[in-house]
Amino acid sequence: MDLSTDYMGLKLKHPIIASSSPLSDTLEGIKTLEDCGASAIVMYSLFEEQIRRENDAFDFFLESGTESFAESINYFPHIETAHKGPEQYLNLIRKAVDATDIPIIGSLNGVTNAGWIDYAKQIQEAGASAIELNIYFIPTDIDMQTSDVEQCYFDILKAVKDAVAIPVAIKLSPFFSATGNMAKRLDEAGADALVLFNRFYQPDINLDNLSIDPRADLSTAAEIRVPLLWIAVLYGRIKASLAASRGIHSSTEVIKYLLAGADVVTVASALMKNGPQYLNVLVKETDRWLTARDYHSLAEVRGVMSRQNVKDPGAFERVNYIKVLESFENPFTSGRANSRI
Ligand SMILES: Cc1cc2nc3c(=O)[nH]c(=O)nc-3n(C[C@H](O)[C@H](O)[C@H](O)COP(=O)(O)O)c2cc1C
Repeated sequence: MDLSTDYMGLKLKHPIIASSSPLSDTLEGIKTLEDCGASAIVMYSLFEEQIRRENDAFDFFLESGTESFAESINYFPHIETAHKGPEQYLNLIRKAVDATDIPIIGSLNGVTNAGWIDYAKQIQEAGASAIELNIYFIPTDIDMQTSDVEQCYFDILKAVKDAVAIPVAIKLSPFFSATGNMAKRLDEAGADALVLFNRFYQPDINLDNLSIDPRADLSTAAEIRVPLLWIAVLYGRIKASLAASRGIHSSTEVIKYLLAGADVVTVASALMKNGPQYLNVLVKETDRWLTARDYHSLAEVRGVMSRQNVKDPGAFERVNYIKVLESFENPFTSGRANSRI
């Protein structure tokens, strides 16, 4: 079985990548991910806030009312502890590139296009094969217009693309009015890959002490549905590579994402839960499933269940939603609802 794939120009031996997580916090962790079979590693993120703090501008930024800064610190508590400053980050990339034979992808996490973009260049100089931009923006300012929110993404992408020659992936939010159009325009603006999707910090309320609970949970397999839909819709319609992110907990999710049209799948929670060795299990089980169905290469599988390749593209659309609702019976009455269409 030829599991090789092309991800934004990087030739990978199989499509299963270690997603950004604390598992890449140390050189030892990175080597373990490679030994356990990762075909590439996305490093934990270097945060705009860390860079700004380094530049003594952090207080100014906190005061400037960009609320998502504080949020991202809560969401990723490890940036305060395990993650050191930008220099250590670049050093770790240099060492990781020397110590491994797989692509190391640097990760930048920010919301503005000023100051920290220089680090994209330094990540390239440190030897990273590509950069993943995690634009972690929660537009809590209700006066901010849709077009302004979207412009942040284009400004950051342009600034990074102008600064580096290596491929640039954007890890996207699913929360756009027109997600498909946003993907298309980012593709046209030069994104080499789209990572669908970012997992947003969703605060909870603690009923014991009436505080906002910043806990971040690991994902579940049920979370694949939204990225699966958009990968299936975008497959064959944009040039950028498609990376699936969220909810991969077994080879079932890997295969579904490939059938929808993903070039690669990225895994974090399942590795945090089961250990990096689980990468090997995912690769073997994916191989077994494809071999049992007489596929010979990943290219034969990719996009087979995408919107453009299924017999009924309406399956991805509203009409199907109505049919699904109709298939539910009221468990407390004997009759079926009348057909709505
Ligand atoms: C503990 C933890 C730390 C993470 N840290 C980062 C990070 O530094 N940068 C980033 O872009 N994503 C980060 N993520 C998000 C993951 O890379 C991934 O996109 C997300 O968890 C969805 O994939 P999953 O369902 O396989 O977990 C983190 C996720 C977890 C669980």
